[in-house]
Amino acid sequence: MSTGTDNWGQVEAAAKFVLGEAVVALIEKCRREPHGESQLIAVLHKVQSQYGYLSETHLDAVAQLMQVPAATVSGVASFYHFFRLQPRGKFVINVCLGTACYVKGADRVAQKVIDELGITWGETSKDGVFTLEAARCLGTCGLAPVVMIGDEIHGDVTPDQVPALLGKYLKKAKQRS
Ligand code: FES
Repeated sequence: MSTGTDNWGQVEAAAKFVLGEAVVALIEKCRREPHGESQLIAVLHKVQSQYGYLSETHLDAVAQLMQVPAATVSGVASFYHFFRLQPRGKFVINVCLGTACYVKGADRVAQKVIDELGITWGETSKDGVFTLEAARCLGTCGLAPVVMIGDEIHGDVTPDQVPALLGKYLKKAKQRS
């Protein structure tokens, strides 16, 4: 990547604008250190903690400012499961698929959520309200099957209860916006 292009100043300013002061400060610190590019993961963590996920725009701006190929940045972001490449919904739904929940029908509850929202694991609904995740155990096995929405635990959930449960949070999301 060349910094000698006529419009480098403009590209740099745009990248800084996209990433914000805190991320830019971290990148500048990394670039002063030897092998600063090896700090790419730390920079991506910072972007994600600030913006919730890594958009194409963020990845591009990181590549520009760190002077590493865009393909390297995208490759790292998609390789590690802890990086999110999609925005999170207002409410994250964690359907527990741990053993205690699974034997009590968590798969049917999960399928109902998937059918209702038209999304699958790791995806966010088009309206930006829900993100669907699977959990291994939420620590409340006595209430199995368990679904956590936001920070609230729902126990003994049946597939039939799912539409009303989602409706309740949809209403909350509308009240918040
Ligand atoms: S297995 Fe679901 S809460 Fe423990």
